[in-house]
Amino acid sequence: MSTLVLPTPNPAEPALSPPNPTASADQVCWLNGRFQALAQASVSVLDRGFLFGDGIYEVVPVYQGVAFRWAEHRARLRRSLAKVRLADPYTDEEWRALIDALIERHSWPDQFVYLQITRGVAKRDHAFPNPPVPPTVFAMTSPLVLPSAALLEHGVSAISLPDERWLHCDIKSVALLGNVLARQAAVDASAQECVMFRDGYLTEGSSSNLWVVRNETVYAPPRDHRILEGIRYGLMAELCEAQGLEFVVAPITRDDVIAADELLLSSATKEILPITRLDGQAVGHGASAGQPGPIGKRLLCAYQDAKRAAIARAATNQSAQS
Ligand code: PDD
Repeated sequence: MSTLVLPTPNPAEPALSPPNPTASADQVCWLNGRFQALAQASVSVLDRGFLFGDGIYEVVPVYQGVAFRWAEHRARLRRSLAKVRLADPYTDEEWRALIDALIERHSWPDQFVYLQITRGVAKRDHAFPNPPVPPTVFAMTSPLVLPSAALLEHGVSAISLPDERWLHCDIKSVALLGNVLARQAAVDASAQECVMFRDGYLTEGSSSNLWVVRNETVYAPPRDHRILEGIRYGLMAELCEAQGLEFVVAPITRDDVIAADELLLSSATKEILPITRLDGQAVGHGASAGQPGPIGKRLLCAYQDAKRAAIARAATNQSAQS
């Protein structure tokens, strides 16, 4: 039975709840050229991000107030914009000033900044608005809650799935329905992430890159249109080099994944996390199967060192400037 109730028009009716009731009272966002309360911020229903998923985004981790690997996130933002033919709304300096100002307005030491640019508000038509309209530029930040000690101690479980997304996964597009359905399939199976395969080869997780460890070598799926090149992709190569571990970029089969000593995921918000169960089976071999392995632990330690170095560098630069 339908539950639709159409109200009788009443122009004096007061506004109901704020548009974003889950936002905390102290959260401020940047929307279309000004800072405003996140709880109150809203965009038009004719925004092309809402109607078509016509936009791109970034997620940047912030440690002790320092945007980690900002230059790399900025470069990927520029690449995503170019690939969907959206003009870059700001210069490098303007982007930097914007995210620094956003971070400063929030007291959490560790945060993650979310940036989104859509093709703006226009009459609904699949083709780009002509003449172009101003893009919608949105930025918010939230507390960064890293994986707990218990999660790191036990690792997470994952399920394997066919990768049914489009063929431009290299674009950090806000059109994430394929990723959303994949993640929900994992949640429905009481798992935290999925391990996706296209044409028999490993691609990535719903919101993370994946790594196979075998015989002290870290194997990475090729960075092409089938995966998003995470900012931790380049970092993983650097960490492996610093740790004296071989880093091999190569197509990875399902058999390779099943034979892995360790399976790892990485993302801005999860850093490096071991996957210890895949489709209900323990990952790894022998007595330590199903437990986080030594290579993942070494890489996570090296990741923490890289964070500390970035914080120290930022402090040195600041004192040099002041
Ligand atoms: N997701 N692949 C996909 C599909 C992703 O969504 C992400 C990150 C990554 C890892 O990228 P990075 O190392 O730059 O975080 C790979 C973010 C965290 C998100 O959508 O929330």
